[in-house]
Amino acid sequence: MKKRVFSGIRATGRLHLGNYLGAVKGMLQLQNSHQYETIYCVVDVHTITTPYDKERLPQNKREIIVDYLAAGLDPDKSIIIYQSDVPEHTELAFYLSSQMSIARMQHLPTFKDKIKQHPQHSTMALLNYPILMAADILVYKAGLVPVGIDQEPHLEVARELARKMNQTYKTDFPEPVRFATKGEYVPSLKGEGKMSKSVEGSYINLTDPYETIEKKVRQIPTATAAGGKMTPGVETLFKYARLFIPDQLKSYQQAYDQGSLKFVELKDAVAQAIYADLKPFQAKRQQIANRPAYIDDVIRTGKLKAREIASATIKEVKEKMGLA
Ligand code: TYM
Repeated sequence: MKKRVFSGIRATGRLHLGNYLGAVKGMLQLQNSHQYETIYCVVDVHTITTPYDKERLPQNKREIIVDYLAAGLDPDKSIIIYQSDVPEHTELAFYLSSQMSIARMQHLPTFKDKIKQHPQHSTMALLNYPILMAADILVYKAGLVPVGIDQEPHLEVARELARKMNQTYKTDFPEPVRFATKGEYVPSLKGEGKMSKSVEGSYINLTDPYETIEKKVRQIPTATAAGGKMTPGVETLFKYARLFIPDQLKSYQQAYDQGSLKFVELKDAVAQAIYADLKPFQAKRQQIANRPAYIDDVIRTGKLKAREIASATIKEVKEKMGLA
């Protein structure tokens, strides 16, 4: 049997460059290696763990499917699903929650951050977020998870749950590990922290036109002279250079050290390289968005294939837990 791969993205809006480099590129690489059975999800149930707009959710989650297809996810090679189409995820999450303490969940940095952002929404759903994520992965017995480095604490929870279930109930869940990409941590354009949808001015959308990308990259804070110790903004700019123009990095670095670098030149070179990477995606996205019947078919087929695998796991877990 081929080793399984699982990954998911929340339906909180259009994909940004961080999602693309940290997750989608890894998802594509594993899909196209033909060595794995790949299952890729829009985690719409996770989307409701923080405040969201119920009128816009149906469109938002569909946009992620279109993004996936435009980026190169291929329904002939991967199973592409909505999380809420496969109720086995939430069912397994409840069974797994019997193996996890409340205190452990309350101490996760991701939980603390989210409560800081939304102090009025400290809900059970949010506390259960990592357990549902573990269930997403374990319901397919997936061993490899292409995600950014920010998801590592969640994967640790998934491994812990796999171990506990295996010890207590003699299941055979693998302990899932992260598949890292070169862009596992894409920094914020503001020079501090990571690129994130929840921080205005921090991100580039995959659908941004060139003018927008140029404007956003030019806003990376570099209001200093070149040379000497780099400020966080300058470091950020060089991180982008490393990701998008690695073969020109050395000469820009030399110019910086000599104090002759014009930041706007480096910024425009980076912006052009980002756009060159995104241009084919944007063209394909337009074509796919014009094929609603095809998108419906991808979602329908994915659901059937996924439920076949997931329901077998649930059957096994229920038997081993004495529920069936
Ligand atoms: P989400 O929706 O926050 O992010 C989706 C993916 O994008 C990656 N990412 C980044 N990578 C590099 N640099 C960045 N600045 C950056 N910002 C976001 C994230 O690491 C992630 O891979 N909990 C997950 C969704 C999820 C999931 C799963 C993932 C639910 N169940 C099961 C894998 C397996 C999340 O919040 O993703």
